[in-house]
Amino acid sequence: MNIPATTEFELGVCYYPEHWPEELWADDYRRMVETGFTIIRIAEFAWSFFEPEEGVFQFDLFDRAIGLAHSYGLKVILGTPTATPPAWLTERYPEVLNVTYDGVTLQHGMRRHYNYSSPKYRELCARITAQLAQHYGTHPGVVGWQIDNELNCEINVFYSESDHLAFREWVQAKYGTLEKLNEAWGTVFWNQTYNSWSQVFLPRPTPSFNQPNPHQALDEKRFISDNTISFARIQADIIRRLAPSQWVTTNGLFGHLDSHELTDEHLDFFSYDSYPQFSSIYYDAGEADPLQDRNWSLSLSVVRSVSPNFCIMEQQSGPGGWVNRMDMPSPKPGQMRLWTYQSIAHGADKLLYFRWRTATVGNEIYWHGLNDYHNQPNRRVREAARIGRELAEAGKHIAGTRSQADIAILRDYDNEWDGEYDVWYGPFMWQSNKEWFKALQKRHIPNDVIYMRSKTTLEDLIPYQVLVYPHPAILSDETASLLDQYVQQGGKLIFGCRTGYKDTRGHCYMRPFPGAAKDLCGITVEEFTMVKGTRLPTSIRWGNASGTLTGADAFNDVLQVEAATVEVMGTYASDYYAGKPAVTRNRRGKGEVWYYGAVFNAEAALQIIDSLSLESPAADWLELPGEVELQIRKNENASYAFLLNYSEEPAALQIRHRKTDLLTGEAISGSYSLEGFGVLVLY
Ligand code: GLA
Repeated sequence: MNIPATTEFELGVCYYPEHWPEELWADDYRRMVETGFTIIRIAEFAWSFFEPEEGVFQFDLFDRAIGLAHSYGLKVILGTPTATPPAWLTERYPEVLNVTYDGVTLQHGMRRHYNYSSPKYRELCARITAQLAQHYGTHPGVVGWQIDNELNCEINVFYSESDHLAFREWVQAKYGTLEKLNEAWGTVFWNQTYNSWSQVFLPRPTPSFNQPNPHQALDEKRFISDNTISFARIQADIIRRLAPSQWVTTNGLFGHLDSHELTDEHLDFFSYDSYPQFSSIYYDAGEADPLQDRNWSLSLSVVRSVSPNFCIMEQQSGPGGWVNRMDMPSPKPGQMRLWTYQSIAHGADKLLYFRWRTATVGNEIYWHGLNDYHNQPNRRVREAARIGRELAEAGKHIAGTRSQADIAILRDYDNEWDGEYDVWYGPFMWQSNKEWFKALQKRHIPNDVIYMRSKTTLEDLIPYQVLVYPHPAILSDETASLLDQYVQQGGKLIFGCRTGYKDTRGHCYMRPFPGAAKDLCGITVEEFTMVKGTRLPTSIRWGNASGTLTGADAFNDVLQVEAATVEVMGTYASDYYAGKPAVTRNRRGKGEVWYYGAVFNAEAALQIIDSLSLESPAADWLELPGEVELQIRKNENASYAFLLNYSEEPAALQIRHRKTDLLTGEAISGSYSLEGFGVLVLY
């Protein structure tokens, strides 16, 4: 096969020249180049070096660090240092500090202790960005910029005085009149009616465990997102003006931020920080069959929905840990390489390890980099060098190709943000996403994630055979109508419980559930209940009386068939609604719509996958055991199947067509034993 060379793949590392004696720099850069690195990211926390006191700017240290890197052929990504305002700044302008919901001001001593609304902070951030962009905007070694660092990480709510004022302005612009605001926030309830704008604030502490008005709470998240974007925009605009030939990105995927809008409007591409072991800390608690680091592939699919080809600005390269939390084991031999190719399989075209050497001071003395404190050769550096050698050639072919999937999980910001507060559906989304992912992984079917936005069109949806929209409680008639067009032309759409009963303000419709999706599904919800407390676990029987039983988790919508085109695919097998429809399929146009009355588990998802006869895109030539992930990147000329073994043990593969491993050039066919944590990229 003719493999086209596309753009260059970039491999690199995050570096902090200001943390080390200058005598180390040349040796560090030399060894980076030997490891196969071509790019470094620097300076994102170094404000005090550039502006040691207000209005006094100096660049000498970073001029030397960047100049030397350039002389070694390393490209440089410059971070704007606005995630860490200097002590002089917060002392002189305390109004830039963030304040908690309870009114506590967050002080200097950690990072991200500022708010985005303070006009003074915006002014000072604009000034330092302009100084940097002016100074480095034509530097031949500088190729791009990272705005701030991980917007909305550590904390993603803001209650300083400036935030309340900015929110009030935002609300005024959105609603125009108090009458409309009162209507949208349902202030008729509990006498919350406003008759002057001066009464309007972000949510503030309230009696009964701090429970603000839910419609106001949803607008709060929308405001934070808009406000974060407008903060980032100031820097993006300055860099575009003063450094027009360098690209602009930012890193992270955090709450209360529409990363799609941010990227579409202000960035060249999106970047992400990939720490697969966070999975065990945040996602796997209590799970019998946890996916662990493989869960990260779902997060990477979300990143891909923002930017099909993205940068991993920080890739885990050692044990992770802060002094007092986030304690993660050391990656075993091969695991760092596996995670590197996991990121690449899902769309990374640039990848930088975090970090070159472990910090000897500060909160992150246990967040290990490639090199240990002692700076002697170690296994992680050797593993990085192996990856560097592989990607020097393979990267040319991979860069620019796109990940492929026939099935997408749909999400949207309104439901994520409203669901954060609304426990009647919010938590369900995370379970259903993960369980669908698990089921698809069991069948080796790659999936995308698509965010439903006001900009989403039919063309965005048509490439997929199947869309799963687990619990869109908020569903407008416009979105339902777009989904209907998708179904009419042959698409298959799957909803779970609690679909379609709220409008975009978070008001419950005075319509039978599933509200805007009623005609699509051809059913109504006769009644519903949580499955918790005194209620025993409930189950669903699929097909006829001898059909498989699966759990009906967390919430049960009891369904009533409303259209002749609807077939009942499963019935409840327990509780007082035993025998009533739990799963339905409505044939509509050339497509079909499923309604599943509960929260998904992998077993239920597998029932649907099998009914739809979905199979792996490589089913005709490849047989894989469960522990191996398949992900495909393609362009018009080539298709690369990434096979990632998450197990420590070898995995037995059957490869029916003759293939070549892009990483080694080895020809492979028949039975093949893929080493523990092993990777193949077959074409
Ligand atoms: C994030 C940050 C880094 C570092 C790592 C490890 O990804 O961007 O600065 O703090 O986490 O904690």
